[in-house]
Amino acid sequence: MELTHIEHIGIAVKNLEEAIPFYENVLGLKCYHVEEVPDQKVKTAFFRIGSTKIELLEPTAPDSPVAKFIEKKGEGVHHLAFAAKDVHSALQEAGDKGVRLIDSQPRPGAEGLQIGFLHPRSTFGVLTEFCGESSGS
Ligand code: CO
Repeated sequence: MELTHIEHIGIAVKNLEEAIPFYENVLGLKCYHVEEVPDQKVKTAFFRIGSTKIELLEPTAPDSPVAKFIEKKGEGVHHLAFAAKDVHSALQEAGDKGVRLIDSQPRPGAEGLQIGFLHPRSTFGVLTEFCGESSGS
């Protein structure tokens, strides 16, 4: 597979309105985009830092995976997203190599990107996302 950089780091927060000012007023970053992703039951807020982004994730429902994450582990780093040239083939290759997949097919994520997740049990505890412009299929 061809991964080019860390596209974003996903951070689970209870409340975007409370978390955004830390990134803006303390770290000096600018929130350039807020978007709800119904598929994942989250509201996201984005900040750019170099070629990487910070993606804050606030759960929008009690059964949101991010709500469950916060319940278990508290707020904090939730996932690491690699920019993939071809999300579909990256998922397929990981699956072929024995990695447990959460998504066997890409699905729509924030910012119009295709995304797919690898299971943290197969990735040494890090929920790993591939994301990119096209599904390649
Ligand atoms: Co993400």
